[in-house]
Amino acid sequence: GEFGGNLKRELKKLFLLALGIKPDDALAEEFSLVASKGPNRKVGDYQCNHIMHKLAPKPSQSDFTRLIGQLIVSNFPASEMVKSCSVTGCGFINVVISSDYTAKSIENMLINGIDTWAPTLPVKRAVVDFYSPNIAKQLHVGHLRSPIIGDTIARLLEYSKVQVLRRNHVGDWGTHLGMIIEYLFEDFPGLPNDAVITIEYIEALYLKSKAKFEEDPVFKEKAKRALVCLQSGSPVYVKAWAKICEISRTESNKVTQRLQVELGEKGQSFYKPYISNMIEELTIKGLVQEIDGSRVISIQDLKTPLMLVKRDGGFTYSTTDMAALWYRLNEEKAEWIIYVTDVGQHEHFDKIFKAARKAGWLPANDTTYPRASHVGFGVVLEGNGKRFRSHRYCPTVCLVQLLEVAKTCSKTALIERGEGKEWTPKELDLTAEAIGYSMVKFADLKNNRLSSYTFSYDQMLCDKGKTAVYLHYAHARICSIIRKSGKDIDELKKAGKLALDHADERALGLHLLRFSETVEEACTKLLPHVVCEYLYGLSEQCSKFYHNCQVIGSAEETSRLLLCEATGIVMRKCFHLLGITPVYKL
Ligand code: ARG
Repeated sequence: GEFGGNLKRELKKLFLLALGIKPDDALAEEFSLVASKGPNRKVGDYQCNHIMHKLAPKPSQSDFTRLIGQLIVSNFPASEMVKSCSVTGCGFINVVISSDYTAKSIENMLINGIDTWAPTLPVKRAVVDFYSPNIAKQLHVGHLRSPIIGDTIARLLEYSKVQVLRRNHVGDWGTHLGMIIEYLFEDFPGLPNDAVITIEYIEALYLKSKAKFEEDPVFKEKAKRALVCLQSGSPVYVKAWAKICEISRTESNKVTQRLQVELGEKGQSFYKPYISNMIEELTIKGLVQEIDGSRVISIQDLKTPLMLVKRDGGFTYSTTDMAALWYRLNEEKAEWIIYVTDVGQHEHFDKIFKAARKAGWLPANDTTYPRASHVGFGVVLEGNGKRFRSHRYCPTVCLVQLLEVAKTCSKTALIERGEGKEWTPKELDLTAEAIGYSMVKFADLKNNRLSSYTFSYDQMLCDKGKTAVYLHYAHARICSIIRKSGKDIDELKKAGKLALDHADERALGLHLLRFSETVEEACTKLLPHVVCEYLYGLSEQCSKFYHNCQVIGSAEETSRLLLCEATGIVMRKCFHLLGITPVYKL
């Protein structure tokens, strides 16, 4: 049949047929295949080591595993996808994919578009909760990770035809707002005029009120009362709150505007009207306990219970998250709810998800839908290995400035390399911006999100190794080959044939075919670096190809131009998924 996506999954189906395992059998779940990399390529494109790991009594019994391997191979169904299937000495099964099949699949994609390679997921609608800064708190480099990772996850899902609700769960409703408003009223009973409440003033207010909250028990009580006044809707408090939020919001939105990350705000305060019904539902279900005047949900195996209502009647971060989860499941009908925050919040979300399971909102098994997932990420370090923090009196501006510096650096580098001498200043500026921001994004996304990384402009600007600059060069090179050929690529797509005879053509073609399984893996595991690895590998494969295979003026010109075009399309789709603007000339 026609290739509609995931090569690995199609192969797995063939293996299951050979093994006589039904697709819905538990054994099918366990069965795995590995895509070969590097030297293994010589023997096969995919390898099945299932027998070694699962079926053999002991790995040393190679006679046994080889025999089973041979049985599987002799049972292997005929398929246009597979050129050959063979058993190694110790029982691994190597599969070689047919080059004709690969070529035909790519021709199809060129005609029908890359969307035919999009994975299909078992969900229609998802919420991605990301960025979500706290009102009045200073933004620092760490605040770049959530919008960058969150945007990519949203894009991966959107590409897979999932409707995504991008939610900025702004911290506009916590204890810190009680402190800030109380302190503000001490400075200015009532409200000061607009000229006084600047972002700098608010950020300083946060630091000062926090210190006072910790030192002065009288202030602490007053601040808690202020929060209750705010939460119960007292007009003066609400007015002060709205003002503070508005100024903070303007400032924090500058970051997402720069990064061109789309995001809709539904802050913590949005869920206020849903809290009482939510608590009532949980109470009726018998999940809520009273301890010392507070109302909690205890959860097995967790040291502390989930605090729903504090003794003073105030609600917590967790109360809001329970109400938000209820809303997302019942009102927004989301089947997958994804939270992108630093790993430090793992326990918080673990507690929320466990409570939701207890309430029957989520199924017991955390891989069935509706589903909630926490996408945690590590910290950003400075060159000296310390955690990157904003310097004490360097306000929010730092973060926007960081992006500005990235742009300036890439502009300088472009000029030094003698790029774009024929460009207009506008073109230079747009290219510098595309490269500058993508440097920052790719430097972040290429790491497994769970690990911490060190931030350095010098490393990011390098045109070798895993950097955005390297990727841009590979892509621009492909585009320039097509341009210089002077051929009408749309005409070639309709009439031309693709052949993958040279080893580097074949390797590149096969890499293109793995796009679908890669995106599906990135989506289901919520791991953006999987796409980065793939794209970097594609760029490497692609430079091998154009070094070893002459395109323009060769006997294979048409076929090779088509391969260039397909590579360009897949690269640009990867750029799109990573929120990177492609550059066509370098
Ligand atoms: N405002 C929180 C913080 O800055 C992040 C919120 C994440 N989302 C959520 N639904 N709890 O740490």
